[in-house]
Amino acid sequence: MVPSERMKVLIVVGARPNFMKVAPIIRAARNLREKRTGLEVDTLLVHTGQHYDAAMSDQFFVDLGLPTPDVHLGVGSGSHTQQTADVMKKFEEVVVREKPDVVVVVGDVNSTVACALVTAKLSFDSAGSRPLIAHVEAGLRSFDRTMPEEVNRIVTDHVSDLLFVTEESGLENLGNEGISPDWIHFVGNTMIDSLLAFREKADSSTVLEDLGLRGRTEQDRGNTAVARYALLTLHRPSNVDTRDGFLSILEGLEELAADYPIVFPVHPRTRQRIKEFGLESRMGMNKAKVNSATPGSLSMQKGIILTDPLGYLDFLCLMKNAAIVVTDSGGIQEETTCLGIPCVTVRENTERPVTVDCGTNVIAGTGKTRIQAAIRAQMDRKASDRMPKHWDGRAAERIIDVLIRAHHDRTITKQSRVPEPCV
Ligand code: UD1
Repeated sequence: MVPSERMKVLIVVGARPNFMKVAPIIRAARNLREKRTGLEVDTLLVHTGQHYDAAMSDQFFVDLGLPTPDVHLGVGSGSHTQQTADVMKKFEEVVVREKPDVVVVVGDVNSTVACALVTAKLSFDSAGSRPLIAHVEAGLRSFDRTMPEEVNRIVTDHVSDLLFVTEESGLENLGNEGISPDWIHFVGNTMIDSLLAFREKADSSTVLEDLGLRGRTEQDRGNTAVARYALLTLHRPSNVDTRDGFLSILEGLEELAADYPIVFPVHPRTRQRIKEFGLESRMGMNKAKVNSATPGSLSMQKGIILTDPLGYLDFLCLMKNAAIVVTDSGGIQEETTCLGIPCVTVRENTERPVTVDCGTNVIAGTGKTRIQAAIRAQMDRKASDRMPKHWDGRAAERIIDVLIRAHHDRTITKQSRVPEPCV
């Protein structure tokens, strides 16, 4: 199918949810190289540095077996404008120097839109040639433009050449926005590729023992059952950036916290707000130090248990074993669907409606009463094993196949000197 040639694929990561989305793509490119197909796919990994803490970034490279980034832009935190502009300025230098054939961006964070925009405006020569832009996780829409991620999704999709869609709603949304079906590829979900690849390895995590949710030693043999607990994540500015909004969610959790421990790995933004708003006392108990719990200790306690942000394998282990997950994250709605774990989403909307259609996810809003009702209903729910189409662990392979075809078509077109199609 392919001639003997090289394709240089530059892959961008910036923030925590990007890492699990690119790991399978890098692996699929590496497998192809090992199969000696006649085409060499060279990957170049660029980390923008949007997330930079060990717990928000480095640990994910270890857990997912990601290569060390070839280039680190080191942009760090700032306002949306500062962060996006810093990534753009620094990324332009890299892409001009490296001249890749394809730039792959994933998800909806500021780094995604920044690098897509830079690539769209480049021209390497007088003919205006530039890399193809591939957007992984295209087409998701919350229809809520107050979310920074929604703006990032729309802009990224509209400057991309290859749009890789994770669920059927994405096909419909992109169609409604007038994007040609020729550019859209329904490939599945690379975040789920990672989950399926690491689901078993997550069992080797000791996080349940470290938090006292399962017995640690032989002597605890009578105590090896996992305690019934809930898992919580909150980081959306709309949920944690005002005291009243944050409090309303905590009140919605009070009933659950009265009966079960709620493990809450705290995002740095949320940690700052808890301190700023003086909400520590509303959490029910003190911060747990992972590793320091005595066996069974936390499972005996109720209330919200704060931990530092966790690595990929520890968090996956906690998700797999949770009775319920309460979150405002996009990716966790998908991961709980794949695992069949009940999820309550504390937002007014979701850009991932397939997670609701599959029956694992309920959109509860952010008011106390609705959150309580959703939690009660979800605690009684039976496990679901409905899996969205193409969430089969092979999305990254499909993406690499499409990239090869697009690159091949482009090369042939250039050789025959016919004006380039938009792909
Ligand atoms: C970003 C993404 C969001 C994603 C989330 C996952 C955008 C617009 N938002 O939000 O879609 O769900 O990542 O975490 O891109 N901070 C640290 N250490 C870090 C990173 C951040 O302390 O390694 C603190 C900084 O104070 C920073 C704040 O967290 O100002 C927020 O970080 P930022 O990258 O701006 O946005 P997130 O809320 O993480």
